[in-house]
Amino acid sequence: MKPIELAKNVYWVGAIDWLTRDFHGYSTNRGTTYNAYLIIDEKVTLIDTVKKPYRNELMHHIRSIIDPAKIDYIVVNHVEMDHSGSLPEVVKEINPEKIICSKMGQKALLKHFHQEDWPYHVVSPGEELSLGEKTLSFLETRMLHWPDSMFTYVKEDQILFSSDAFGEHLATSERFDDEVNLDVLMHESTKYYANILTLYSPLVKKLLAKVAEMDLPIKMIAPDHGVVWRSHIDKILEAYGRWCVHEGKGNALIIYDTMWDSTRLMAKGIAEGLQEQGIPYKMINLQVNHRSDVMTDVLEASAIILGCPTLNNGMLPRMAGFLMYMRGLRPTNKIGVAFGSYGWSGEAVKLMNKAMTEMKFTICHPGLKVQYVPEETDLTECIQLGNTIGKTLQDFLAGKEINSVEDII
Ligand SMILES: Cc1cc2nc3c(=O)[nH]c(=O)nc-3n(C[C@H](O)[C@H](O)[C@H](O)COP(=O)(O)O)c2cc1C
Ligand SMILES: [Fe+2]
Ligand SMILES: [Fe+2]
Repeated sequence: MKPIELAKNVYWVGAIDWLTRDFHGYSTNRGTTYNAYLIIDEKVTLIDTVKKPYRNELMHHIRSIIDPAKIDYIVVNHVEMDHSGSLPEVVKEINPEKIICSKMGQKALLKHFHQEDWPYHVVSPGEELSLGEKTLSFLETRMLHWPDSMFTYVKEDQILFSSDAFGEHLATSERFDDEVNLDVLMHESTKYYANILTLYSPLVKKLLAKVAEMDLPIKMIAPDHGVVWRSHIDKILEAYGRWCVHEGKGNALIIYDTMWDSTRLMAKGIAEGLQEQGIPYKMINLQVNHRSDVMTDVLEASAIILGCPTLNNGMLPRMAGFLMYMRGLRPTNKIGVAFGSYGWSGEAVKLMNKAMTEMKFTICHPGLKVQYVPEETDLTECIQLGNTIGKTLQDFLAGKEINSVEDII
């Protein structure tokens, strides 16, 4: 195998996972990669490892460059199993002089692998470590996205090894951002941010400010998933700047589920009203859209319109599941509205309103319910609702203050 060189004596030695389609509930339609990097210097250093089943691929890549027994240091930027699952076997095989990690990293490693006698070397934020010709420095990125997470920066080559941040799930034979389709890359990066980082956005914002303040020259960002950024660094940093404030694009999402189609008819009416107001929208039926794709749209949307009929005094399970997922990720800065058909008790709209209130969405309508199948007058009301949402959204985007309605149902 021809080694992939990022800079002189810095190599990608990770593994490509063409198979995974589900990553703890996130749909990885394009597979993923587990990136690990090898630095050849007086102290040979491996940055991160790979998921357990991919150990052979990692070792094969290392062996094409150097005898693995020559590795002195292993840096663990992040303890999650996709980057550390093969660590016990790799440590056994390599017998490293140091396992370099953050303070929280050591704690997490002990709780994962229960090895008291590994040669842990805890680094503090900003600490530097010379490898000979190259120098590593460490940036603690606690809760981005685990307590143990950190970045490692190689001063001489200006490469930032950014762990899960700036990554994306994308299996590809190419290793650099300028070798793949940029639209696909940005889409997968958006999906990654939406599903992994949205709830840590205030920390992302602080981190971006800190990196800007440090004025760190960055030639490459080398994450633990997907490709290495070298030509579009500005683009991904600019995107993170937008995503961390959950900036919407002025569009609306109608996210719904239905048993007998009444709620879908209502959704179509609302869509017509939005169209009349010139608001771009998307109809998202939860039966055919995966929650992680829906979240990707939510991150960049301005209005979230939820539709669900009532089932056994509650919501349909797909809507309940989606709301639980979305609530966990805590998107902000959105307008919210709920609607749905019902038969006799009609609790679903209230429950969706409750969930959106808890997420601090700006609720701009009490909610619309229709008993059983909507008739012409009901559909007119749905169109009017679409109009109302459209107008409110225009005000919201113009920066006018919108108060949540008090009397939501
Ligand atoms: C299994 C089942 C349970 C239901 N439970 C309730 C309920 O507890 N309360 C209620 O108001 N309607 C209930 N309904 C009635 C539906 O909400 C009603 O048929 C509605 O029009 C369905 O809208 P849809 O066409 O969008 O699926 C239930 C319907 C079914 C099939
Ligand atoms: Fe992770
Ligand atoms: Fe990861």
